[in-house]
Amino acid sequence: MATRAQVLEELGIGPEWVRRDRPTATRASEPVDPRPVADTSPLALESGSDLDARAAAVLGMDWPALKACVASCTACPLAPTRTQTVFGVGDEAADWLFVGEGPGAEEDQRGEPFVGQAGRLLDNMLAAVGLKRGDGVYIANVVKCRPPGNRNPEPLETERCRPFLQRQVDLIRPKLIVALGKVPATNLLGRDATIASLRGNLHEYRGIPLIVTYHPAYLLRNLHDKAKAWEDLCFARDTMAKLKAAAA
Ligand code: URA
Repeated sequence: MATRAQVLEELGIGPEWVRRDRPTATRASEPVDPRPVADTSPLALESGSDLDARAAAVLGMDWPALKACVASCTACPLAPTRTQTVFGVGDEAADWLFVGEGPGAEEDQRGEPFVGQAGRLLDNMLAAVGLKRGDGVYIANVVKCRPPGNRNPEPLETERCRPFLQRQVDLIRPKLIVALGKVPATNLLGRDATIASLRGNLHEYRGIPLIVTYHPAYLLRNLHDKAKAWEDLCFARDTMAKLKAAAA
């Protein structure tokens, strides 16, 4: 039986590697960092060391602490204009993690990601490959607060929100991440690139295989690219099957 490392190698993304410049991920079962979270107000976070301390504290949190920290976050300019934070939804032990950009108007009102028109398309995309929101699937966003007017999140906003998604990934430890669109793809991969150049390849985020496809809102405006999204979903489904077979 091939090991996970062998399968990652066969899939073209091995060997597994761990970044050394950040604290290593702790699993959900490991003790929670008891240090208080640094003040996350924007003015308190101007220095790099404050930001590092805050990120380190977030990366030690369990689910309840993380949810509370997100709900009370005021670390970026999105906080004053939100109705509520949108943490993420689904199975906290999911094999699949779908990552979007940030909440839109409906998500901001309801507190759940992808509940508007794009969300309905995402649900249909999931169903097309036999998946269902909440059932082995977790859905999160790069930023947890709505950017006003549905603009893209600014670099400062994604940077301040980054530890939250990192911690969600470390707690879930999904088998596969699907980045929905350019904002999650470039933020998770840490480099600028087009969706066209990223899709069709297996990437990696924090040691987890990652596939890139189009954002459902883009697909609603560009129907001709739905066929490419379908190809990406089939690639993701086949990759998941290989990862599961390797783990069995
Ligand atoms: N678009 C996103 O990227 N995320 C949502 O939650 C809703 C729309």
